[in-house]
Amino acid sequence: MLAVGVVILLSYLVGSIPSSIWVGKLVKGVDIRNYGSGNAGATNTFRLLGWQPGVAVLLIDFFKGFASAYWISQLAYFIGSGPVALFPYWEVDSFLRIVCGVVAVVGHMFPLYANFDGGKGMATAAGMLCGIEPVSVGITFGVFLIVMLVSRFVSLASLVAAFIYPLMLVVLRYGLGWPIDGSILIFGAIVGIGIIIKHRGNIRRLLNGTENQVGSFKPAVG
Ligand code: G3P
Repeated sequence: MLAVGVVILLSYLVGSIPSSIWVGKLVKGVDIRNYGSGNAGATNTFRLLGWQPGVAVLLIDFFKGFASAYWISQLAYFIGSGPVALFPYWEVDSFLRIVCGVVAVVGHMFPLYANFDGGKGMATAAGMLCGIEPVSVGITFGVFLIVMLVSRFVSLASLVAAFIYPLMLVVLRYGLGWPIDGSILIFGAIVGIGIIIKHRGNIRRLLNGTENQVGSFKPAVG
């Protein structure tokens, strides 16, 4: 039990790393939450600081989720069973992988190091889910790209992706009989709902026609 508690705490601490805020301070000396959409995420970093910092933040946020689900969760096995047991890492319970990944997403949304005011969780959720059920993540990413390219709204693409991801899991499991773990289904839906709730400001802006489109925003950060 202690081992499980330790890896959950570690996942939260890793998820809490506020990459966009730290990169914004490093590159321009600003808190990106005061500019653009006000969101501490990769999209706002691209928008305000350009593609290099944007890619850096995207990769860091993705790997926070991936590392928590695939590496940090394995530490529970190590702590619980001793060093010899570390080698067969694939034996780590898939439920614990998912829990650690979800906790990293929660850390990203409510980071300890940034007054619990974090991002919307898309990249971290993608990282966490990538190796668990890659086909559904791949299809969802394809849909995300199409919606983003057609509408030029990253937020709309994120909302559609968060909505269809759990539905896709249901189709794969119950429609096509794929062996998809029930816990992925439940936690996938919880993460999707969390991401949609975090986008409520974007939903308001989409509805009243003031949402930022890709390429249309003039950065106020000089
Ligand atoms: O993943 C975040 C994106 O969907 C919206 O970002 O900065 O436009 O609120 P932003």
